[in-house]
Amino acid sequence: MAEAKAFAVRTHGVTKVFGRGAAAVHALRGIELEVPWGELVMLVGPSGCGKTTLISILAGILDRTEGECQVLGVDPQHLRQSTRTRWRGENVGFVFQQFNLIPALTAAENVAVPLLLLGHPRRKAIAAAEAQLERVGIADKRKVRPTQLSGGQQQRVAIARALVHEPRFVVCDEPTSALDADNGQIVMGLLAEIAMRGDRALVVVTHDARIFHFADRIVRMDDGLVAGVRTQTADRTLKLHSHQP
Ligand SMILES: Nc1ncnc2c1ncn2[C@@H]1O[C@H](COP(=O)(O)OP(=O)(O)O)[C@@H](O)[C@H]1O
Ligand SMILES: [Mg+2]
Repeated sequence: MAEAKAFAVRTHGVTKVFGRGAAAVHALRGIELEVPWGELVMLVGPSGCGKTTLISILAGILDRTEGECQVLGVDPQHLRQSTRTRWRGENVGFVFQQFNLIPALTAAENVAVPLLLLGHPRRKAIAAAEAQLERVGIADKRKVRPTQLSGGQQQRVAIARALVHEPRFVVCDEPTSALDADNGQIVMGLLAEIAMRGDRALVVVTHDARIFHFADRIVRMDDGLVAGVRTQTADRTLKLHSHQP
């Protein structure tokens, strides 16, 4: 693939088959995707069309079956396991659909996890985590455990955790699905503001038409394929319906 440097992400003919034989599921059937540096790309499409599978492959969490994939100039699947774990830890932030917060840890400790995994000293990691919680507006919850937080607050913790190590590539799986309209706007605004820079890229899976205006391009998937791409001028202003405190 030529000119890979112009794009944060570039794929060609990516397929993914789960299982084998009669039970095989062809989740991806030849994905062509380009994510330019500095762009916020939304991935939309019906349930089961392969969105989560695709972003897991881009993030280096899941191996593809066939095809080519360049992410930040490397093919994650071609890295040795230890190098790959390190690459992911340094470069990728992942916001999972179900938040995946660790119940036994406080909000600050949850956010500190990526830094601790990179070997940062605990005191520094917690301080950075608390600063990140402040950026997403919930510094006062730093010592609270996830079960004591609302859905919107848990999502902010998950976003703080995905961004605390300043990754160049951030992927989010339906980050606003558990949120009301205003919290969806606030969370997308935070993601766009914190993650978007010329040397970064953000891919957001969503069903939520209320946040489409944040995107530079919208990639529509259907049945394991890219069915269409729409580019637009992103509008990152929040469309709030009620008064915020
Ligand atoms: N680990 C797995 N094992 C078997 N099938 C899977 C697995 N993960 C996803 N699939 C299947 O792959 C297809 C795409 O799933 P997914 O990527 O989760 O879609 P989406 O996120 O768009 O809803 C679905 O048919 C799903 O059932
Ligand atoms: Mg999914």
